[in-house]
Amino acid sequence: MSSALELLWAEKYRPKTLDEIVDQEEIVSRLKKFVEEKNVPHMLFAGPPGTGKTTAALALAHDLYGEHYRQYLLELNASDERGIDVIRTKVKEFARSKTPPNVPFKLVLLDEADNMTADAQQALRRLMELYSANTRFILIANFPSKIIEPIQSRCAYFRFKPLPKDKVVERLMYICKNEKVHCEKDALEEIYELSEGDMRRAINILQAAAALGKVTKESVYKAIGYASPSDIEEIIYTALKGDYNKAANKLRKIMIEYGLSGIDVIKSIARALNSKSFSDLPEELKVLLMDYIGEVQFRLTEGADDEIQLQALLARMALLGKRFR
Ligand SMILES: Nc1ncnc2c1ncn2[C@@H]1O[C@H](COP(=O)(O)OP(=O)(O)OP(=O)(O)O)[C@@H](O)[C@H]1O
Ligand SMILES: [Mg+2]
Repeated sequence: MSSALELLWAEKYRPKTLDEIVDQEEIVSRLKKFVEEKNVPHMLFAGPPGTGKTTAALALAHDLYGEHYRQYLLELNASDERGIDVIRTKVKEFARSKTPPNVPFKLVLLDEADNMTADAQQALRRLMELYSANTRFILIANFPSKIIEPIQSRCAYFRFKPLPKDKVVERLMYICKNEKVHCEKDALEEIYELSEGDMRRAINILQAAAALGKVTKESVYKAIGYASPSDIEEIIYTALKGDYNKAANKLRKIMIEYGLSGIDVIKSIARALNSKSFSDLPEELKVLLMDYIGEVQFRLTEGADDEIQLQALLARMALLGKRFR
């Protein structure tokens, strides 16, 4: 493994065996049964990114064949390879290669199978049949609906779910402990919210925040280049109260500190206004603000000055805030 990959925690903490996989219990127990029986069907793994699809396929191979599982596993990427012809040649060669000692078949792992055209999938289906005596296919897809029916019906189907909050936080905590990184629980919870159950993304954010020293809410937002929601909310409150100067100063400070662009800030402001924190604002005020935010956002994409545009927005907030008080 290259040293760059070793430095990536998401790779370093990829579970090696089925037992180490976090959550996805039903899937893991079905796969373990296949290992026990040394009998694996063709399979379709589907679900959102960073939920363990590739990990589960590799762990299955590890548990079936042991440490040296790589020689009995052909990894292909449907969108990398130059079409079905390359896949056909590689599978043909692989099917002829050495068979594992205790298991009567080898595994072909085809990632991003949902990126294949319907024609290529038809050809793939024939391949699966042709070589089913000594190979089993694991197809991985984000969108299973893009897999043609004849393939779906030949595969055992596994649906991976976004990982739940407690499991993600627990895993992040484990990593922090192992890496001897100081972390705050509410920062880990924030990471979970940002990652939406994608463990890869959660671990990547954790590592980026840890690189700034400690894992706190602040370092998390700094790492991903967002302003923290509480800072943005404070700026909006201050402006709506009519204290334009204070709001503008605070905004300038966090833009410099976090290295934010005007577009970053305008998006955070829009997100904040639509969140629970501002659910009590009069509807009409919110409509007027969102309308103006749209205008500012457009001007920024056209190259208008960040600072002046955002100051204009805060000024508008101060004026409207007074009118609605
Ligand atoms: N269930 C899980 N348990 C523990 N770690 C996980 C799990 N799912 C994902 N991870 C972490 O996230 C990384 C990426 O996971 P994996 O490659 O399995 O995602 P994937 O589901 O194949 O995503 P994609 O659709 O993007 O290919 C792993 O290296 C591991 O660190
Ligand atoms: Mg994957």
